[in-house]
Amino acid sequence: MGLRRILFLCALCLLPLKGAAEDGPVRLYAPPALADTGVFRYILPRFSLKTQVRVTLVADRADAQVVLGDEGRALFEGAGAVWRLAVPGEGAEDAGRLANWLASDVGLRTVTGFAPDGVALFALPEVAEAEPEAVVIDGDAALGLDVSRRACARCHGVEPDRSGGGIGSTPSFRVLRALPDWEERFGAFYVLNPHPAFTQITDVTEPFPIERPSPISPVEMSIDELEAVMAYVWGLSPADLGAPLRAQDF
Ligand code: HEC
Repeated sequence: MGLRRILFLCALCLLPLKGAAEDGPVRLYAPPALADTGVFRYILPRFSLKTQVRVTLVADRADAQVVLGDEGRALFEGAGAVWRLAVPGEGAEDAGRLANWLASDVGLRTVTGFAPDGVALFALPEVAEAEPEAVVIDGDAALGLDVSRRACARCHGVEPDRSGGGIGSTPSFRVLRALPDWEERFGAFYVLNPHPAFTQITDVTEPFPIERPSPISPVEMSIDELEAVMAYVWGLSPADLGAPLRAQDF
């Protein structure tokens, strides 16, 4: 587990951040009462790992493309307030992605998973908004199924039933989907064994070392395709494994 955590953090540092050069990071503002909780140090790396979109906290609300404050749609409450989402920079693609993610199931679960001293600081607001929006996930789940069949089904069962190939000793996608941190695992699968030996992500991974070429026909894909796989996996119903799974269980 320790090693995986380290590899995961390495992946965070190494990922080239697409789009950052032209547009700069997305500018997010939140008042000190929220920012000082440390929640952004927890959630933003997770968002950036998944989307390659970088975010910076700005001190002046007027400069922000995305604002968490007292206007807009209520997202979560804690640290003395209900926090609402407003998107003055709507139209900017990366700002939209951050806003969608914050409002999505996944984003909200990440926020409510922030528990600095073992106690969650934030919860969903008591009063649900009149019309909850459908969850927005980036990535094309249909493409994700195609990519999974092509790139992963050699080893993993990738389909909801058992028709999708895979080998018995390798966890199926539904089993992996049942892990609470499945998103991090998928987002970084290419640095998690056994994949680095045979996986190339365009513009992300280094070429295989000459003295250690891939032992099998390599898995080659782009970050967009990985996002599509994650969108597909997100929609799979998790395998029912009885007791909660821990990393050592498979
Ligand atoms: C050549 C076989 C092979 C291929 C191809 C393969 N995997 Fe895996 N994968 C494995 C094995 C074996 C494990 C279990 C490793 C373990 O138990 O530590 C695994 C584990 C995983 C895990 C969990 C990793 C962890 O440590 O938590 C994820 C996520 C994953 N694979 C995603 C993928 C995706 C996505 C693809 C296709 C793009 C893929 N794999 C292709 C063999 C493969």
